[in-house]
This record gives sequence, structure tokens and C-alpha cells, in this order.
Amino acid sequence: MTATGPDLQTADLLSPAAVADPYPLLAELREHDPVHWSERYRSWFVTRYADVDAALRDPRFSSDRIAPYRRARLDGPGADAGVRAAFGVLEDWMVFKDPPDHTRLRKLLSRAFTPRAVERMRVRVAEIADELLRDLGPHADLIGEYAYPLTSSVVAEMLGVPRADQALFKDWSDRITGLVFGGLGDPDRHADGAGGMAELTGYLDELVARGPDAESLVGALVRAREAGDALTHAEVVATGVLLLFAGHETTTNLIGNGLRALLRHPDQAPDAPGTVEELLRWDGPAKTIARLVAADVELGGRTLRRGDRVFLCASAANRDPAVFPDPDRLDVTRRPGRQLGFGIGLHYCLGAPLARLEAAIAIPAALDRFPDLRLAEEPPAWHPVLLSRGLVRLPVHT
Ligand code: HEM
Repeated sequence: MTATGPDLQTADLLSPAAVADPYPLLAELREHDPVHWSERYRSWFVTRYADVDAALRDPRFSSDRIAPYRRARLDGPGADAGVRAAFGVLEDWMVFKDPPDHTRLRKLLSRAFTPRAVERMRVRVAEIADELLRDLGPHADLIGEYAYPLTSSVVAEMLGVPRADQALFKDWSDRITGLVFGGLGDPDRHADGAGGMAELTGYLDELVARGPDAESLVGALVRAREAGDALTHAEVVATGVLLLFAGHETTTNLIGNGLRALLRHPDQAPDAPGTVEELLRWDGPAKTIARLVAADVELGGRTLRRGDRVFLCASAANRDPAVFPDPDRLDVTRRPGRQLGFGIGLHYCLGAPLARLEAAIAIPAALDRFPDLRLAEEPPAWHPVLLSRGLVRLPVHT
């Protein structure tokens, strides 16, 4: 897609061409209008690495974007009570909070989500990957039959959800996706997502009441609450929902996008030390990261006003030639370490070590087991959403 000059006025990251391949449009924006106002989305789109990095570290770009939406759209008469309750849970997610609430919740969760807790999962990740690969037939969908069940089992096990209950989560989590990644103001997806949220919070409420396994993450959060840490029951449940959700939607996309990238670039080593980092950079799951402007701020020569919505395009920053030479080239031998696919600053992804561990095991495991693995659908179907980049399915011939 070329969209130079005046065409940028109507640039649309959700056009079919840009959903299939957002990078040409993002490159045009980065070059010609790096802090771009989109009338269509009534939002800013920021595409240069330096600007995305600066905004993610700047408190004037607030993460507190659910409460203002709830106040404006859901507190009045006539609003759906279920949708209001679901947004109430999202409001307790640390990813949607600013300090001091964010600091308090993050400190408590970091105490539970330790490198040791992640490392304990190494053997289990390999076992689950192996079991799933063993069951694949000659035609398989590596999203639905591999990446998704793998990542959801891993995070559910870490949380302390019994194996027998894990199948329930797929449906709930699929529906919640409509709330989190759907456009704000998309009422059908909101109503369905609210139903999923109510069932999932009901389940976690019970899990907390039953007294979860002390080794589990939910167990650690409950202990923190009982030890007098400032954590409410609602926050324990909301944090469980956040982890279940954040823990596998994105990691599924990393494994799916990563496998597709490597199948299209067979010269790239699936298990080099820099492979996962390069897959995150080149076609990672975080297309954009949203913020609300809390106080007027200058960025890239433009003035952003208090209340404006901003999409910080991590996917564009990760292909900025000012930082990554020959950025459109997949090269697992690149010097790693600077990609923004996990964000940066206060909200830097807490699950990054787990996501890296899962991808580093799951991607080579699939390619090792099936040396003749071939893509069965090109071009593939991508989820048409602004925030994330992920495949609806990844059909292959094993
Ligand atoms: C490849 C997989 C993943 C990607 C690309 C990813 C991406 C991100 C990004 C971009 C953020 C920052 C959001 C912001 O600044 O607003 C974030 C935050 C977060 N992620 Fe991940 N994530 C992944 C996997 C995980 C996993 C496996 C977990 C946990 C099981 C997790 C838990 C979290 C949490 C709790 C936060 C909020 C941190 C905070 O607000 O301080 N993520 N993630």
C-alpha cells in the first residue's frame, strides 16, 4: 500500500490491506507524519521509535483510560449493568492504572510473579507442547490446536486453576477479547464480553474462596491480602482475570506470528539466542499501546491536548530505520534488546520472562517435530483490531 501526501489524511490501520500487512502504511506515517491525527479514530498515531519510547516513559500519557470511559458512557441511566460491571473489573487491572494504585498493585504482583515461579514452568511448557504436537494430524491449525491451548494451560496452571476446568477458559477469554481489543463503543462485542467476564470472575471468586494452592499465583495474592497488604478481594479477582487474559492472548500471537515468519524465512534459525527477540520486533503481537493525554504535551512538533487518545505504535517503532538498520529484514542474529514489543517504563510487561520462555520452547519444538511443515493458507486471516496483531488461524500441512 502506498499512502503518501494527502492520502495519509485517510490512512486507516483497519483497512483490509493494512490488517493484512500494516508495515507499509506505518512506514509512510513514520516518514511523513510521525505524530498523526486520525479524524476517523479521533486519535493520535505515533510511529517513531524515539517518540513512542518517550511517551511510554512520560506520566502525561496516562494509562487510566477505562474509568473516564465508564464515567462518560456507562454511569448514566440506560447503560447495561453487565457491561458496567465488566468495565469495573477492567478498571481494577494495573495496566489501566496510574500511580499510586499502579505502583501498589504492581509491587504485589511482582512479588508473586517471580523468576523462580516462571522457571518452574520450563519443564511443563515442554511437556504440554510435546503432548499437543503428538496429537496433530496431517492438516492442523497451529493457533487453535497448539499455541492457544499451550499458552492458556500454562497460565492457568500458574494461577492454580485445576486442569479439568481449563477448557472453560477458552470461551470466556475469547469473549473478553471483544471488550479489551474491540473498539471502545462497540456495543455488541461489549455485551458478549460482559457475559464472559461475569462467568470468569464468578469462577475466580469461588477459586479464591476455596483457598487456592499456596504455590500458585492466586494463592500468593490471597496470602498478600491476608497479610494485610492493601489489596481488596475484587483486586485479587481482577488481577487473576488480567493474568489469564494477558497471559495467553498475546503469547498465542507471538507463537503464531513467529511460526509463520520462520516458515516463510527458512534460512533463519528457530533456536538462536536472538530469535524470540527478533520475532517480537519484526512482527510482534503488540501493534499499538493506548494512552490518554493527562496534560497538554508536545510530541514530535505537535501539541496533544488533555483528553486526547493516543495509539503508540510499537510495531512501527520496532521497524524504525533510525534504530534498526534494514528494519524490514528478519534477522535473528541482530543485536537484541531494544524492541518495544513488551512496552517500556512503568507498565513494562510483567509476563515478559514467561512469554519469552514459552516462545523459545514452543516455536522450535513444532519445527523440530515436523521438518516438512508448510503453510496451508496464504495470505492468512488476521484479527482486524488496532491494538494487537494476531492470526485468526494458522493452517499447516504437517
Ligand atoms: C508475547 C507475549 C506478550 C506481549 C507481546 C505482551 C505485551 C505487553 C505490553 C505491550 C504491555 C504494556 C502495556 C502498556 O504499557 O499499557 C504488557 C503489560 C502487561 N503484561 Fe504482557 N505481554 C505478553 C505476555 C504476557 C504474559 C505471559 C503475562 C502474564 C502471565 C503478561 C502480563 C502482563 C501484565 C500483568 C502487564 C501489566 C503491567 C503493568 O501495567 O505494570 N503479559 N504486556
